[in-house]
Amino acid sequence: MKTIVMYNSQTGFTERYAKWIAEETGADCVSFAEGKNRDLQKFDAIVFGGWAKAGTITKLPWLKEQMRKQPNKKYIAFCVGASPIDNPDVKTAMQNLFTEEEHKLVQVFYCPGGINYEKMTPATYLIMKVFAKMMQSKKGQEEAGAMLSSSYDISDKKYIAPIIACLEEAAG
Ligand SMILES: Cc1cc2nc3c(=O)[nH]c(=O)nc-3n(C[C@H](O)[C@H](O)[C@H](O)COP(=O)(O)O)c2cc1C
Repeated sequence: MKTIVMYNSQTGFTERYAKWIAEETGADCVSFAEGKNRDLQKFDAIVFGGWAKAGTITKLPWLKEQMRKQPNKKYIAFCVGASPIDNPDVKTAMQNLFTEEEHKLVQVFYCPGGINYEKMTPATYLIMKVFAKMMQSKKGQEEAGAMLSSSYDISDKKYIAPIIACLEEAAG
């Protein structure tokens, strides 16, 4: 089964997961900028990873368009965010990314990434700092706000295991 892993990453966490998946499976691995105009006809499986942004995945409309155009491929989407995997909002957010019909075509996974202020664009840096401050002043959100106020890394290769299993199952 010929697989391509495509990722959209601003600060490196999604790229790291994409490379781990590609290493493990021997798949091609390209950034969204490199791959978005590529002919994907020759691939049987498309694994798409984007960073979490306000409850959605960046560049998700692109993936949905591929799913509409070529519905007979195997699609896997993974979302990399700052939330730990046991955050109860994660499951709902992953469910809400796609319609019921779209869920029949794609399997969705969440991989915890982290925060890297050093690699953010100035605009994103400002948004995150303001967001973290806002949360710190909200009752019940103080701890999450404090966590978001500086860089941290909760990524781990173990989180790709269900994605690898899904690809192996598809390959038969
Ligand atoms: C504007 C903005 C919105 C974000 N929204 C979320 C979110 O809804 N859920 C989440 O878990 N992380 C959120 N994050 C955190 C990023 O998804 C997280 O830092 C991720 O690891 C970045 O991946 P990257 O290194 O591949 O760019 C947000 C970050 C920014 C800058």
